[in-house]
Amino acid sequence: MIELAQEINRLKQERNAVILAHNYQLDEVQAVADYVGDSFYLSKIAASVACEVIVFCGVFFMAETAKMLSPEKTVLLPEADAGCPLADTIDAEAVRVLKRQHPGVPVVCYINSSAEVKAESDVCCTSANAVQVAGLLPGNKVIFIPDSNLGNYVAKQLPDKEFILWEGSCVTHAKVQVADVLKAREKYPAAKVLVHPECSPEVVSLADFAGSTSEIIRYAEEMPDRQYLIGTEAGVLCRLRASQQHKEFLLLHAGLFCPNMKKTRLESIHRALLANQCVMKLDSTVARKATLTLRKMLEMV
Ligand code: 13P
Repeated sequence: MIELAQEINRLKQERNAVILAHNYQLDEVQAVADYVGDSFYLSKIAASVACEVIVFCGVFFMAETAKMLSPEKTVLLPEADAGCPLADTIDAEAVRVLKRQHPGVPVVCYINSSAEVKAESDVCCTSANAVQVAGLLPGNKVIFIPDSNLGNYVAKQLPDKEFILWEGSCVTHAKVQVADVLKAREKYPAAKVLVHPECSPEVVSLADFAGSTSEIIRYAEEMPDRQYLIGTEAGVLCRLRASQQHKEFLLLHAGLFCPNMKKTRLESIHRALLANQCVMKLDSTVARKATLTLRKMLEMV
């Protein structure tokens, strides 16, 4: 494994490449990455980093986003079939239907969506900025797609706006049930409960804190408490367990592993860099419109 990591580092230099990894990636992948973070942070890095090649260790929509924000670069997704079932719940035609049903209402799409869906939307958001983005839009109605749990979370923070939601959700976060939180609270009464807003509204309402993956990590790093019950994918434990060894981190549900995020391994990164495999390519019309939706998010927040 050490040899493979060394070989990846050599190839990175040879190809003038940087590795971006989402907080849900395997520990071994996070260890070779130049930047690790949540979707918002990684989008900003993709838009600004100086290099010729970006290796995006994450899922399809993330690499697609990086390509749109840095079209002149080669963007590699080491595992080409690392998808997102949440993003797959909606397509461009469904967005067009929503827009016909609610003419003039702005469409906010969560970054967990395809380029085609982004192309039909007005502005993109991530879990770190969704409240801010939706709050800045004119008018008192918002179409929010495709995650209804995140949409509900945003709607609660913006009571003056009416939200029209798409009923998509993340299969991994849906595993966390109210009973899991109640049981864990009983067993660990002093622990803080930190969840992602992709969890159900009932679960979020029982938590001490809800935020993006990086916000959860930051909260746990900054708070003095010793025990944390985490309601998001297991990858966030990587940095926390390394940097906060005096604290204890437990998952609220044993099954919080995203099979798509866990596809990428050192072998996948090595193969992609060596053979220039899994190069992101986008339809130019779709990419042009979707890039405006992404850029609007970066201008607004
Ligand atoms: P963030 O890292 O932006 O919170 O997104 C996580 C995610 O995609 C959950 O499925």
